[in-house]
Amino acid sequence: MALRAGIFHTPYNKPHRTPLEMFEWSLDLARTCDEAGYKDFLVGEHYTLARENIPVPEAVIAAAAPMTKTLRFAPMAHLLPYHNPATLAVRIGWLSRVLGDRYYLGVAPGGHHTDAILNGFDGIGGLPERQLEALDVMQQVWKREPFKFKGNFYQAGFPGPDDMPGYNVEIADNSPHPGMEIAVTGLSTKSPSMKFAGERNYSPISFFGGTAQMKAHWDTWSAAMEASGHTPDRKRFTICREVFIADTDAEAKRRALSSGLAESWEKYLFPIYKKFDLFAGIIADSGKDLTPDQLDMDFLAEHVWLCGSPETVAEKIETLIDQVGSFGQLCVNSHDYIDDPAPAKESLQRFAQEVTAKIEI
Ligand SMILES: Cc1cc2nc3c(=O)[nH]c(=O)nc-3n(C[C@H](O)[C@H](O)[C@H](O)COP(=O)(O)O)c2cc1C
Repeated sequence: MALRAGIFHTPYNKPHRTPLEMFEWSLDLARTCDEAGYKDFLVGEHYTLARENIPVPEAVIAAAAPMTKTLRFAPMAHLLPYHNPATLAVRIGWLSRVLGDRYYLGVAPGGHHTDAILNGFDGIGGLPERQLEALDVMQQVWKREPFKFKGNFYQAGFPGPDDMPGYNVEIADNSPHPGMEIAVTGLSTKSPSMKFAGERNYSPISFFGGTAQMKAHWDTWSAAMEASGHTPDRKRFTICREVFIADTDAEAKRRALSSGLAESWEKYLFPIYKKFDLFAGIIADSGKDLTPDQLDMDFLAEHVWLCGSPETVAEKIETLIDQVGSFGQLCVNSHDYIDDPAPAKESLQRFAQEVTAKIEI
């Protein structure tokens, strides 16, 4: 089986883009990826960030699905602490019935302070426990059996005949399509998310933070899977990375550095990675004695992004697999290529057709 190509569309847009521009770009990108043979199209959920401005991933998913043939969609992720879990469970179930196995679910606690403030929290600290209680409520709702629950954070229930004597109205079936996959996002090296994903037989999906972090994610997830009686399968493991491909290494670097990818790293992701210490593992892998403040765009192109000819990028992925073990899907992080889409679209096509298709896992 070949490595699957996916896309993570959060969508790292330039801050002046209007919602309509981003909506149309999202659909354009989905069509490009579908035609190129991509497997998963994952849409982020953020409420306050000018550079990640899709607050309703399911709207993009519902619009893109009928315009594409085989692409599978997921919100990556629904931020459970910010929703009413019972009504979110029904909405997810409904959409999964509409899209069948072209839909699955990503869940996360929420990674951004500003979204936490919008929702009345002081910060993101207490969100992971809310996520767990929310998931319990959602699973309970999907069983469609009467219950009433008052937890630490939420109250919910499911109606049954005893709740409405003499008025036995029929209850809709909005539980997800059978076997709907649930994926959990992992970021920190000692990832609590990867642990609970394994305990509940949910799939792991990581942002790349160096080989030690990636190995730790697999080890944590697979150990938790085994401890709870499940068999870990490396094909369920997805990682997200930046990719830019052109005919030669020099041309790929030239194009990447003048594209939306470089713009969003320079203005947005560089400061975030520095502030949250996300470069440590990548610097360690590079073997260079550098502090995050000494890193430049050239370092990113060499060590953070998978940038080069199809052969070079394939080699970098094979080396990664040798170091950390195999994985099932590599999702390309999407960036704002609206001003000059052709080189980015060529890169996306070549990634699926000339790189992942040739890597056996
Ligand atoms: C693939 C991926 C997608 C994510 N998508 C979102 C998102 O859409 N919105 C958001 O606020 N956080 C998102 N996050 C961050 C998560 O909310 C959260 O901070 C992270 O998964 C916590 O991981 P940890 O338990 O390993 O520390 C994402 C993380 C990853 C790896």
